[in-house]
Amino acid sequence: MSALVIPSTVRRIAVLGAGHVGPVIARLALDAGFDVAIAASGSPENLELGPDAVAVADLVVLAIPLHRFPDLDPGLLAGKLVVDAMNYWAPADGVVPMFQGQQLSSSEIVQRRLSQSMVIKSLNQIAYQDLEDGRRPEASPDRHAIGVAGDDPRAAKLVAEVIDRFGYEGILLGSLSAGRVLQPGGPVFGAVLTRAEFERAIHTTAVQA
Ligand SMILES: NC(=O)c1ccc[n+]([C@@H]2O[C@H](COP(=O)([O-])OP(=O)(O)OC[C@H]3O[C@@H](n4cnc5c(N)ncnc54)[C@H](OP(=O)(O)O)[C@@H]3O)[C@@H](O)[C@H]2O)c1
Repeated sequence: MSALVIPSTVRRIAVLGAGHVGPVIARLALDAGFDVAIAASGSPENLELGPDAVAVADLVVLAIPLHRFPDLDPGLLAGKLVVDAMNYWAPADGVVPMFQGQQLSSSEIVQRRLSQSMVIKSLNQIAYQDLEDGRRPEASPDRHAIGVAGDDPRAAKLVAEVIDRFGYEGILLGSLSAGRVLQPGGPVFGAVLTRAEFERAIHTTAVQA
């Protein structure tokens, strides 16, 4: 069993998933100066890269279709800080019993399965095309927001700092459960918003609830 280690800083990032959004996340990370590895499930060399890259990574981004998640070996991610960029969307994923009809947010279910990892929900809410084009420098007034939800404040802050280096405002949401606002059907899912717009959208939903 690997002990859970929340790194003091993030230098190496591994992205699992090389479809639409994985490569964009990898590019954002590369451009921000991180060491980056990316793996798909398909090719032998990538499969080889996967476990090695994950073993040395300070942070692993899960960017695979959620219906593939139940087959992922939790041991691969044991001890790791994991960013869950996945969404459960039954029209695309089909019905995935692990996630269907649950009161928990999808990332809480991911965390329950990855019990030896620290899961933070982020990078799931913006479509890959917008994610690539939406980067802005720190002082930019129209900088876009990306939510960061996690139960461990130090881990969530670390991920928010990574998001900031990617060119986005990382907005801390306080808990993994609170990350449900980032999910499909939530008030900020699919939306490209400034910090003020993001916070207003979340507040309005909270008031209506
Ligand atoms: N598309 C977006 O704009 C967007 C934005 C934010 C978040 N997301 C979320 O990100 C996830 C991926 O979306 P996508 O649109 O990028 O999907 P996608 O285009 O279907 O790509 C999925 C990738 O995951 C790989 N994969 C599957 N199982 C794997 C495993 N066990 N280990 C390593 N790689 C694995 C696939 O590799 P093989 O082809 O070799 O199997 C493929 O490269 C979804 O949960 C989605 O909701 C998507």
